[in-house]
Amino acid sequence: MSQKIGIIYSSIDGQTKKICEKLHAFFNNQQIKSELYAIDNFNRDISEFNPLILGASIRYGKHNKRVYDFVQNNITSLNKVTTAFFSVNLVARKEDKNSTATNPYLIKFLKQTPWKPDLLEVFAGKLDYKSYPILDRIMIKLIMKLTHGPTNSDLPIEFTNWNKVNNFGLRISNTLKAQ
Ligand SMILES: Cc1cc2nc3c(=O)[nH]c(=O)nc-3n(C[C@H](O)[C@H](O)[C@H](O)COP(=O)(O)O)c2cc1C
Repeated sequence: MSQKIGIIYSSIDGQTKKICEKLHAFFNNQQIKSELYAIDNFNRDISEFNPLILGASIRYGKHNKRVYDFVQNNITSLNKVTTAFFSVNLVARKEDKNSTATNPYLIKFLKQTPWKPDLLEVFAGKLDYKSYPILDRIMIKLIMKLTHGPTNSDLPIEFTNWNKVNNFGLRISNTLKAQ
């Protein structure tokens, strides 16, 4: 069995990528080999990696279509290695929506795909009004208003809990010892 970790991200504004880079650095520090890929550039054989991690962000209630396609196209290979999946969204900034049992997007994703990742996690993402095109800005402000979040900030607000990211890295590296 391979002992190289594969990390794949589906990220639009870069926060999921940043989380994956932190995981990459975490494994590096532990002298564990890992490789990082944008989902669009992943051209390797899944069997080269064990475990394989996939992280994806939410936009308007959904993970990117490429994530569903990736799972659909690779389900047989995914079932043969240890796998981890995490979702990044802003709903997860709320205490009562930030676990695998309570985050609606993660729950929905697991219902929609045949994949049963061995490890799951949810991370809160980043809110950056200034970087959004006007229509997106209006929509996100509306969503934030409805969910009692910040509706006005010139500076980006990063809700990601980096300790939680490190703990996820640790859980993943522990699966290597178990192999
Ligand atoms: C256009 C847009 C739509 C979004 N829709 C949702 C949403 O429906 N639910 C949610 O919890 N977060 C939503 N978010 C927040 C993103 O999931 C969050 O900003 C995350 O950090 C983005 O990750 P990425 O930079 O890897 O793409 C949205 C963000 C944008 C810009």
